[in-house]
Amino acid sequence: MAIDAHQALLLFLFLLLTWLLMKTRIFKKQNKNRPPSPPKLPFIGNLHQLGSLPHQSLWQLSKKYGPVMHLQLGKMPTVVISSAEAAKEVLKTHDLDSCSRPPLQGARRLTYNYQDIAFSPYGEYWREIRKICVVKLFSVKRVQSYESIREEEITNMINSISHHALSSPSSPVDLTEKLFALTASFIFRMAFGTSFEGSDFNHNKFNEVVHAAEATMGSFSAAEIFPFVGWIVDWLSGLNQKREKVFHELDGFFQRVVDEHLNPRRTKPQQEDIIDVLLKIIKEQSGFGAAMLTEKNIKAVLLNMFLGGVDTSAITVIWAMAELAKKPSVMKKAQEEETFRLHPAGPLLLPRESISQFKVNGYEIQPKTLIQVNVWGIGRDPKIWSDPEEFIPERFVDSPIDVKGQHFELLPFGSGRRICPGIYMGTRTVEHGLANLLYNFDWELPSGMKEEDINMEESTGLSLSLSKKTPLKLVSKKHLFA
Ligand code: HEM
Repeated sequence: MAIDAHQALLLFLFLLLTWLLMKTRIFKKQNKNRPPSPPKLPFIGNLHQLGSLPHQSLWQLSKKYGPVMHLQLGKMPTVVISSAEAAKEVLKTHDLDSCSRPPLQGARRLTYNYQDIAFSPYGEYWREIRKICVVKLFSVKRVQSYESIREEEITNMINSISHHALSSPSSPVDLTEKLFALTASFIFRMAFGTSFEGSDFNHNKFNEVVHAAEATMGSFSAAEIFPFVGWIVDWLSGLNQKREKVFHELDGFFQRVVDEHLNPRRTKPQQEDIIDVLLKIIKEQSGFGAAMLTEKNIKAVLLNMFLGGVDTSAITVIWAMAELAKKPSVMKKAQEEETFRLHPAGPLLLPRESISQFKVNGYEIQPKTLIQVNVWGIGRDPKIWSDPEEFIPERFVDSPIDVKGQHFELLPFGSGRRICPGIYMGTRTVEHGLANLLYNFDWELPSGMKEEDINMEESTGLSLSLSKKTPLKLVSKKHLFA
């Protein structure tokens, strides 16, 4: 939206006022034992240093300022953690001191005021909703009960690629599209009891909504950067309107599926889906101490499934296939952990917020500090990994390191109280998806393309997940034995 001269002057005056207010507050609060920090600019602090790929810029900055680094992101004091030792101190030793979430505006709207699991601040409500979901939705038993859905959807994907391989043998398959469709179909059937095909979303629309929602939740709005007046900037820049649009799209969809489930004439499917499970909990209201659950809570949890479950697994398999296509010799020995090291779907985990004061590496972290753990950087730390930029799946053969949050050099699912509860579900989808692609087909580059031509760039911008910038297109050859 264009801003005229009058609005620009008003904005300038507001920003000046904000800066003066911030300066007095910041200087009052500064403490001597704060972690090292790059130089800051007025108003924005270190925001300009985040760049278009924040995890990469922060990794470069940490080489100069150290593994515990202080940044001022507008009004938000922030600490960036960039080593396995410091990550262990934060996520294990001081897990309880640091396991809240910052009240980000984008997340607030989309999560019905933080009524989900992922963005809910630490407290009674989060403990209860997480416990219920871990027991009822994410348990090994529940995940196994959806195994047949996963297998069916994987078979559908394999059949569709086979059909393509037979009908147009030399034309490449868009694996990015196939894998998003696979994970979306699985989550749709498991969570909503509906098929992705024939739902409100076609492939493009779905991608658009998921990415808009992730960008909304992953980025900072002016409201949290500039006190008092930031909301005006968000309004003038159109951010609020974009946020409202994506909220209404998602809310409308979630409400429709919840209503369908409440319809007494609905034919009950053989297996209860996640909405059935959550509605049953509401009906019984058993075991929930903090508050009564309502439909809003269901919709907030569905949002976590929608965003947490679709993108992450698809992105991981896409990066794995891209790395393997670059190194055909290792394609047969592929192990998914390597992808988790080089291309963690959440490169900075989800932001934490400190609750009380504590020390990391001898530096003091104040309460209400935003904490970002750069697991992308830690996964490429030459002090930990030999040839850190190289994709060498063999490095995990006979290695005790796993992705379950106890090895701080490899944290694709985070660690501590806020570790991803979908870890089992996510790894099953990644393992099965990848194994089936490799078992059923030989993969080749499109004619005329060399291994070094594969674009390995990461998609830019503040978002929660780290996808490949360009779609991965490879030629599939059906195995004779498969
Ligand atoms: C390959 C697949 C996946 C990856 C790489 C992944 C990664 C992550 C990461 C990095 C976090 C933040 C952890 C932290 O802040 O320490 C997280 C949190 C979360 N994930 Fe996942 N995830 C995956 C699959 C899933 C699935 C399938 C679901 C649900 C269907 C899910 C639901 C969640 C939720 C609800 C949280 C928030 C937990 C909390 O704040 O208490 N994730 N995930």
